[in-house]
Amino acid sequence: MVQLSERPSTRKITNLQEKFIYELGAIYDAEHRFLEAQQLVWQKSQHQQLKSLVETHIRETEAQIKNLEQVFSILGQQPYRVTSDAAAGLVSDGQKLALLAADNPQIVDLGAVGAQSKVEHLEIACYRGLIKAAEQQGQNDIVQLLQQNLQQEEQTAQKLEQLLPQLLQEMTSGEGRTKTGRSR
Ligand SMILES: [Fe+2]
Repeated sequence: MVQLSERPSTRKITNLQEKFIYELGAIYDAEHRFLEAQQLVWQKSQHQQLKSLVETHIRETEAQIKNLEQVFSILGQQPYRVTSDAAAGLVSDGQKLALLAADNPQIVDLGAVGAQSKVEHLEIACYRGLIKAAEQQGQNDIVQLLQQNLQQEEQTAQKLEQLLPQLLQEMTSGEGRTKTGRSR
């Protein structure tokens, strides 16, 4: 849910460095929101492959947040969150679908895969933009940290794309229910 009360005071952007820090703050906020959302998916899903994918990415996301904190530190800044309305919106969309489909766990799982896939693509776009900007400034240490995050997002997006047809197949054949021990 978007909470306007947590929106920090907006700093003016007058140069590329300030724009970079603003966007860094937005992905830093997005990663925190996505971490929480993934923890909920992990708690609620009974699908072993989805759970294990999410579990791996929860650990990666925690490391990514640390990488972002290191980038702030290289820039001589305290880490700070700039409310990402895009991230809040994606989480909210995913939660709505999960609520509407609450009676059918397989649809909830499918919705979670779709929502997470949108999340990964948002993150990929953010990291690619930040990496280009850091490359242009010759900030190789920052490029390296952001590249680690980007690679994990790209790998996760790929894994989700592979999992989607499998979940659809399981749903059509009824296989997923017996495999995961669901009785609905
Ligand atoms: Fe991610």
